[in-house]
Amino acid sequence: ALAVLVPKDLVGRRIVVSAGGTREALDPVRYLGNRSSGRQGVAIAIAAAARGADVTLIGANLEIDVPSSIHVLHVVSTLELAAAVELAARDADVVIMAAAVADYRPERVAESKIKKDEHGDRLTLELVRNPDILATLGESRRPGQVIVGFAAETETDRDRLLDLGRAKVARKRSDFLVVNRVGWNEGFATEGNTVIVLDGRGDIVIEASGSKASVAGRILDVLARPGA
Ligand code: CTP
Ligand code: CA
Repeated sequence: ALAVLVPKDLVGRRIVVSAGGTREALDPVRYLGNRSSGRQGVAIAIAAAARGADVTLIGANLEIDVPSSIHVLHVVSTLELAAAVELAARDADVVIMAAAVADYRPERVAESKIKKDEHGDRLTLELVRNPDILATLGESRRPGQVIVGFAAETETDRDRLLDLGRAKVARKRSDFLVVNRVGWNEGFATEGNTVIVLDGRGDIVIEASGSKASVAGRILDVLARPGA
């Protein structure tokens, strides 16, 4: 009965959503990772599919179940995510980068388990920068393609949070940036979310707070607007 209330305003739109958090291998049994569960990105994929979009979800180490009706590509590392997004973006109308992407990866991946007796009391890891997937999408976008980034920030002051978001949206050349505050107890792995969506000029488009499903709906409302 609820389904009839969902607007089918994304029919024919091809939407790629990345979700979760990438992991960078240190050795065969260990990785560097982050606390993203994938909840917000998966909620966006589910809501977009319900509104008629043709959705591809690229999931990095999702900690939640995805309905079998959603087409999911599973990746682990940032380089895998980059390759999957680049391919999927080629014929996408909208790309939403909700994944928390590791900024660095270990320069070398040990072929066997790192042992304490080889390192003693201190172990130094050399990390190298990962490619910036969102910035690459922003540079290589086709006319009409809409690129949406997320910004996870621990900044608590609203004005400074907005300044960080504005700098980020300019740097990434994305059409929209969903700014959300994350911390030990908010953002990642939680049920609810509070976001501010900026457009490419850094102007506030919407502010939304509530369940990740309702926040997903508000973000998609922006993308469903004529001209978006
Ligand atoms: N992102 C990406 N590739 C990376 C790093 C981030 O595509 N190597 C994307 C994320 O998916 C997100 C956006 O860029 O949509 C912003 O990520 P965030 O970590 O907030 O920004 P960074 O540019 O990495 O800056 P910093 O972490 O230094 O604040
Ligand atoms: Ca980052």
